Amino acid sequence: MTFQFAERMSRLGTESAFEVLAHARRLEAEGRSIIHLEIGEPDFATPQNIIDAAVRALNDGATHYTPASGIPQVREATAQYVTKHTGVPTTMENIVLTPGSKNILLFALLMLVEEGDEVIVPDPGYPIYRSLVEFIGAKAVSLPVRQENAFRIDPAELRSLVTDRTRLLIVNSPGNPTGGVLTREDCEQIAEIAQQRDLVVLSDEIYNRLVYDGAHTSLYSIDGMAERTIYLDGLSKAWAMCGWRLGIGAMPVELAKRMDTLMINSSSCAAAFTQWAAVEAFDSPESDAAVDTMVHEFHRRRDILVDALKRIPGIECHQPEGAFYVFPDITATGWEDRDLANALLDEVGVAVLRGSSFGPHGAGHIRLSYANSVENLMLATDRIATFLGAAVSQS
Ligand SMILES: Cc1ncc(COP(=O)(O)O)c(C=O)c1O
Repeated sequence: MTFQFAERMSRLGTESAFEVLAHARRLEAEGRSIIHLEIGEPDFATPQNIIDAAVRALNDGATHYTPASGIPQVREATAQYVTKHTGVPTTMENIVLTPGSKNILLFALLMLVEEGDEVIVPDPGYPIYRSLVEFIGAKAVSLPVRQENAFRIDPAELRSLVTDRTRLLIVNSPGNPTGGVLTREDCEQIAEIAQQRDLVVLSDEIYNRLVYDGAHTSLYSIDGMAERTIYLDGLSKAWAMCGWRLGIGAMPVELAKRMDTLMINSSSCAAAFTQWAAVEAFDSPESDAAVDTMVHEFHRRRDILVDALKRIPGIECHQPEGAFYVFPDITATGWEDRDLANALLDEVGVAVLRGSSFGPHGAGHIRLSYANSVENLMLATDRIATFLGAAVSQS
């Protein structure tokens, strides 16, 4: 049978991390040694106390549907967690729990953006933003995130991109793929523009616990922003819980109610035992200690990786302040980012992502994730240096 796909399917993008991972796994199956620096997933195990809490919940019968936006006690605990980390008084009515935070993004677009509207997305940025914006028939407008500006967006440039068709602004700090972190001043200027131009903002702060220099400023916490912001967080990154699937949205009650209806029509609810595990993640000294240990280790790895990359001729590496990615400029090597990423995987078994897969402004860069051991990071940078050295001497 020949299937006729809906036109919108041709507009749906993907995440190159999943494609590169699949290719890397095929090479591994052929016996090749691959170092995985493509994955956006912490390499730590979920803290044991969180696993224990989930097992207890399962044994206590957390095996049923829950209310669509989440179990009331868990939404309450989430509201307290959001209040503690952002300073914004948040109640359970503001909270929607979803199976992974990608749903918060999809639902925000479905409920607020019409076909033909414009959504401003960071470029380079998390590829799912552009993919979903285009999927729903809207126009993704690139907001450049430049290395010379420490991978922070420029408020003046943002201002120039807002039009009468702009319905939503997506901001992501700490940022994927660059690790850039917005300052308080940046957030204040972005907030001023959002308020002057009456924009709804989706503030993706999923990496908010992973900041190594200075502190994270929540755009949601800037005066006047809570009433126009969908705050996005989740369990995946801070507690190494990608496979548990829990996304967190905090938003004005009117939006939360609509998102509840979207949950009823799609996933029904997030997994009950995962929700109970979240309470343990948010509110226990063991969980806080585990996050601190992971942050400390990521910080150490970042310093080692950036240092090693800076020593490779042709690579210019800005030291990112947050998340667990570096996004070096590789233009001086003479390679296109796509060709270099392919060659590093095929020739020397180092899986990285091409910068252009995060948007046109990512061209000339590659993304390396340091969610891998220091030994592997050192081995990977040795392999990259040897590969580039050999390629230069051949040319
Ligand atoms: C910036 C950003 N936002 C959201 C997500 C989605 O995370 P999850 O669906 O696991 O909550 C990711 C995952 O890589 C991300 O990098």
